[in-house]
Amino acid sequence: APRVFSGIQPSGGLTLGNYLGALKRFVQAQDAGTETIYCMVDMHAITVWQDPAKLRRATRELAAGFIASGIDPVRSILFNQSQVPAHAELAWIFNCVARMGWLKRMTQFKDKAGKNAENASVGLFAYPTLMAADIMAYHATHVPVGEDQKQHLELTRDIAAKFNHDFGVEFFPIVEPVIEGAATRVMSLRDGTKKMSKSDPSDMSRINLTDDADTIAQKLRKARTDPEALPSDLDGLAERPEARNLVNIYAALADITPDAVLAQYGGQGFGAFKPALADLAVDKLSPISAEMTRLMQDVAEIDRILGDGAARAHAIAQPILEQCYDIVGLIRTR
Ligand code: TYM
Repeated sequence: APRVFSGIQPSGGLTLGNYLGALKRFVQAQDAGTETIYCMVDMHAITVWQDPAKLRRATRELAAGFIASGIDPVRSILFNQSQVPAHAELAWIFNCVARMGWLKRMTQFKDKAGKNAENASVGLFAYPTLMAADIMAYHATHVPVGEDQKQHLELTRDIAAKFNHDFGVEFFPIVEPVIEGAATRVMSLRDGTKKMSKSDPSDMSRINLTDDADTIAQKLRKARTDPEALPSDLDGLAERPEARNLVNIYAALADITPDAVLAQYGGQGFGAFKPALADLAVDKLSPISAEMTRLMQDVAEIDRILGDGAARAHAIAQPILEQCYDIVGLIRTR
């Protein structure tokens, strides 16, 4: 049976990119009746230094974001990574399977480490082996993510295949990346060639899930565009990254195709389209941010949900880890 796993880092707040590229699709998988396991990857977050108090808050706020977006912590398993030791333990085994050369090719490491890679943490370098462990600890088969995680998922497949080959087993499944829909790569509102990101220095470049209605409308009104009217078909967006981005955002928010957006707005200028997009965005996002605020009033309840999710996650991951140790030749006598 298919089993979906995915994770989000609790480093800073959630953006519209996280919502459309990940959360909204997590909810769809859950609502389709698939077994779904969603993780706040706090151990990934500390690959760069985090203020402990802020990390705790961001983890709980992320949990609130999951729930406010429609994740039901009964139907889905929702937990934070560090409460389930199988992630770290399996990551060590994968550190011994993955090759230095594979990790050196990871573009996210190159981007995040920047020019001074010698000064990056070992954890930042090994990040993709922990990500592979997150997924493989559950024998997950499907992983919904945004486009930027594609390379990491290919590495996960390589690690699983090498483990199976090295030990002569068919133990770890080869996962399917699920990168689908109009918003797998939501771009910056200031530059249509850059990904929308929580680490962009300009707050105007992104919509945060916690932005109020006026801020959302203002950011979309000021979003960079060109002076042309919207085209009537997708070909007309080929050389227009900013226009394409706004059309994709509209499509993903409205659950329609970009073609359907252009059928409605083709021939109209941004003077008409941006206010319509702002109304739609406020309509979809305001209830989520209001619900997050409400949920954050009761931190004890959030912690209870995370504890319950971690216990359920542990019950799935631990037997898989035990089998893995046995395959590798590590003795377990208690
Ligand atoms: P993270 O925390 O950077 O992002 C969480 C999810 O949001 C997606 N995303 C976007 N999608 C579309 N447009 C954007 N602008 C955009 N920005 C972010 C990401 O693709 C991701 O799906 N390494 C992962 C977390 C992780 C994980 C895992 C994911 C750890 N272990 C196991 C899946 C399975 C990360 O840093 O995502």
